[in-house]
Amino acid sequence: MASEKKEIKTIGVLTSGGDAPGMNAAIRAVVRRGLGRGLKVYGIYRGYDGLMEEDLKELTGKDVSDTIQKGGTVLYTARCAEMRTLEGQKHAAETCRKYGIEGLVVIGGDGSYRGAQCLAHQGINVVGVPGTIDLDISCTEYTIGFDTSVNTAMEAIDKVRDTSTSHERCSIIEVMGRNAGYLALWCGIANGAEDILLPEKYDYDEQKIIDNIIDSRRRGKKHHIIINAEGVGHSASMARRLEAATGIETRATILGHMQRGGSPTAKDRVYASIMGCMAVDLLMEGKSERVVGYKNGKFQDFDIDEALAMVKGIDEYQYEIATAMSGGYKKDAKVKRS
Ligand code: F6P
Repeated sequence: MASEKKEIKTIGVLTSGGDAPGMNAAIRAVVRRGLGRGLKVYGIYRGYDGLMEEDLKELTGKDVSDTIQKGGTVLYTARCAEMRTLEGQKHAAETCRKYGIEGLVVIGGDGSYRGAQCLAHQGINVVGVPGTIDLDISCTEYTIGFDTSVNTAMEAIDKVRDTSTSHERCSIIEVMGRNAGYLALWCGIANGAEDILLPEKYDYDEQKIIDNIIDSRRRGKKHHIIINAEGVGHSASMARRLEAATGIETRATILGHMQRGGSPTAKDRVYASIMGCMAVDLLMEGKSERVVGYKNGKFQDFDIDEALAMVKGIDEYQYEIATAMSGGYKKDAKVKRS
C-alpha cells in the first residue's frame, strides 16, 4: 500500500476516460499549484497509456496558459485496457518511479479511479479528481463537465423543441450519461419535458407514455418532449412504436458527443480549479487513495474505496420535482424532502 506522510517532490497529472469540459482548468490548476508549491509536474498523455508508452512531459506554467476556456483535454485521454492487468499496473508504476513521480492526480470517472487504486497498491500516491459529464460518482454532488454538458444539451433541446412545435410532433431526445440518469433529469427539468426516462426509474411501461402524449394533445399541447437517458436507450425504435400507437408523428434525436464538447461554464472552470489545487494539497499532505468531491456545500476528500463502493442513486426529491413540473402536478404530490 502507498505510504502515508511521504514528502513528495514530483507529481504527474493525467486525464482518463471520456473527456469533460473543465478538465483543462483542472490540469492547469494541478500544474500551477504544483509549481507554486515547489514541485516538478509531469503531464501524462492519453491517460494511463502515457505511462505504458512513456509519453509524458514536464510542464511549465506557460504550457497550460490559454487552456482554461477550452473544451476537451490538452493531455488527451484514453481508456487503457492494459491498466486492468497486474502486469500493466506494475509497468505504469515503474514509469512513475523512472521519472520520480511519487504522486499522481487522476482526473476522470470511476473507471479511472480503479486504475489509480491499483497504482496505489504499487506504491504510488494517488488522488482522484471527478471529471465526467455523467455525474455518477457517489461521493460527490458535482463532477467536472456536468454543468457545461447540461447547458449544451439544454440549448440543443430548445432548438429541437422549436421545430417539434412547428410540426406538432412528439420528440424523443436522447442524452448521454451511460448508466446514470442525472443529465436526463436535469435536462428534463431545464427544458420542461413532458416525460423523462431515467435508467434508475423507468419501468418500461410505454402505455403510460402513450396515454400522456394523447392526453397532452387533447389539452392542446403542440409539442411533446421526451428526454430519454442513454441508459434507457432505443430512442429510434421507441419513436416508431409511439407514432404507431398515438398517430402523432414522432422523431428521435440522439444528441451524442456534442454534449461532451465546448467551452466550460464558469462553474466548471472555478470548481475544476479548486479541485485541481486541492488534489495537489492532499498529495503534499502525504495523503493517497483519496478522491476530491463536493458535498453539502463543501469541497472535501473521500476514501477512494468508499467512493468506488457506493452506488449513486437519483435524488428522490429532484425526481419528484421533475415529475411535478411535467405531468405529475395533476396527481397528488408526495413531497418528501431529504
Ligand atoms: O462517460 C462519459 C460518456 O460520454 C458517457 O455519457 C457515454 O456513455 C460514454 O462516455 C461514451 O463513450 P465513448 O466516447 O467512448 O463513446
